[in-house]
Amino acid sequence: MASKSKKTDPLASLDRSALPRHVAVIMDGNGRWAKSKGWRRVRGHEEGAESVRVIVRSCRKLGIDALTLYAFSEENWARPKAEVEALMRLLGRFLKKERQEMLDQGIRLNAIGSIERLPKSTRKLLDQTMADTSQGKDMVLTLALSYGGRQELTQAARRLAADAAAGKLDPESIGEDALAARLYTAGLPEVDLMIRTSGELRVSNFLLWQIAYAEFYFTDTFFPDFREAELARAFQAYADRERRFGQTGDQLGVSG
Ligand code: IPE
Ligand code: IPE
Ligand code: MG
Repeated sequence: MASKSKKTDPLASLDRSALPRHVAVIMDGNGRWAKSKGWRRVRGHEEGAESVRVIVRSCRKLGIDALTLYAFSEENWARPKAEVEALMRLLGRFLKKERQEMLDQGIRLNAIGSIERLPKSTRKLLDQTMADTSQGKDMVLTLALSYGGRQELTQAARRLAADAAAGKLDPESIGEDALAARLYTAGLPEVDLMIRTSGELRVSNFLLWQIAYAEFYFTDTFFPDFREAELARAFQAYADRERRFGQTGDQLGVSG
């Protein structure tokens, strides 16, 4: 158990060799966090953006290779227009504010999803920030924006079919790698740990293919309250798991 009394740095006691390489987070509960305080939902998104900053820094500090954040789903377009606009504004503000930090920290920004659906100004800023940070070698921060797992798999299928129809690909030769190479996440390591905040026990169309063997960590904490101490708890839980990948504990020499 990670000691809660370590007020200074809750991440310091983690065993670095037992950390995930790729962490994905479903950042949920912003609205309920705000409502519980009698505030408007947008306030929750603003505070959630602060959690994003904290988590990005912490993961970078711990040497995590890849962090993927579910920031806006394909389904989230159905929210009230004012909330969608506020989220897009916040994204723009985040990109402007964090650009220098990403450059300083060697973080490469990446985006997955139907990026073409984002407002033009947001898309421009996103493209610019991705280009500016493209040399970052120490961590890749992927924002899932207008993202849907089924949509991603469907477009990969469409690309496979197009390549086959063009004679570039023999249908018989299509294996897992061929499909994975056509996903938005091509080139990223496997997701090791999937975190969801706010007590919801569902995947909500996030990284359906990529979580095949991920460890899941659910917490009741709303995302605006998910900071270093909560992240340390999630990583400790991950470190305590036994990942068997179909084998027995005996085969792996980890249990009796
Ligand atoms: C997550 O918080 C942020 C986004 C989905 C953009 P929510 O806005 O879903 O907050 P709740 O779930 O309504 O509390
Ligand atoms: C999932 O949260 C999407 C993001 C975190 C961006 P939602 O709040 O939209 O998920 P559901 O609708 O409750 O499943
Ligand atoms: Mg939600």
